[in-house]
Amino acid sequence: MTLIPLGIPRRLLEFTIDGEPVRAPEGSTILDACRSVGKDVPTLCQGDTLTPKNACRVCVVEVEGARTLVPACSRKAEAGMQVQTDTERARHSRKIVLELLASSVDLSTTPEVAGWLKEYEAKPDRFGPDAARLNEEPKIDNDLYVRDYDKCILCYKCVDACGDQWQNTFAISVVGRGFDARIAVEHDAPLTDSACVYCGNCIEVCPTGALSFKSEFDMRAAGTWDEPAQTETTTVCAYCGVGCNLTLHVQDNEIVKVTSPHDNPVTHGNLCIKGRFGYQHVQNRD
Ligand code: SF4
Ligand code: SF4
Ligand code: FES
Repeated sequence: MTLIPLGIPRRLLEFTIDGEPVRAPEGSTILDACRSVGKDVPTLCQGDTLTPKNACRVCVVEVEGARTLVPACSRKAEAGMQVQTDTERARHSRKIVLELLASSVDLSTTPEVAGWLKEYEAKPDRFGPDAARLNEEPKIDNDLYVRDYDKCILCYKCVDACGDQWQNTFAISVVGRGFDARIAVEHDAPLTDSACVYCGNCIEVCPTGALSFKSEFDMRAAGTWDEPAQTETTTVCAYCGVGCNLTLHVQDNEIVKVTSPHDNPVTHGNLCIKGRFGYQHVQNRD
């Protein structure tokens, strides 16, 4: 669906990216402008439905006159700005960020990261096997979703989606400091004893697969998860009158997970437990 945003027209700012003149509406980030002209800047903690947290710094670019590298995902574009996305300094910084993350966290289910590691010649192995931040079994304490914190980069997206940016449930938070920092529910209880309402909006925003549908987790473990073979069909949830859009991900004639389009003006990618996980009744053939 193509959305045409309504509102007061915004002034167009003129500036340059890698020496090329660009124009972007006032309020755009450098990342928005880069994407509008087809420039690829890696991102991890950025989310198109969330306020930037600047947690990962993999998106840094150089701005003429700025003392430090700036995160493209949050820095607003300004008229006359001269942005360089691919300088040696920016590339070196991305390489270090990727090495630190990939040496301490399991990024095996993070989309695109393998390509970035190659592109920036990152060598996470140089830190050795002791660099792993955690080493624990995935938390499988309910039938709907799995928390595998060995894959968590502490980007805060799930906390923001569960908290004041979308769900307002506040079931999860960052606990501990430094190397002991981690995402947890109150008293590190099982999810079933927490305030979680199983909307799954945290899964929707998690960039690494640390939070995943139980169906996806089980299929990955069995070696049957085959994303290229899946189809996506967007339909309307029939459980109540809100009319949320659901995107059904189907593999071998079975719905394997449900998401919602991020540009949908009703859901902005969010759902409730019925829309997100109620699909099992569709294929219950018992
Ligand atoms: S669980 Fe996912 S969304 Fe939450 S902080 Fe970790 S990586 Fe980010
Ligand atoms: S996802 Fe939840 S709120 Fe949205 S239409 Fe379905 S039941 Fe209603
Ligand atoms: S994507 Fe910009 S700081 Fe993480």
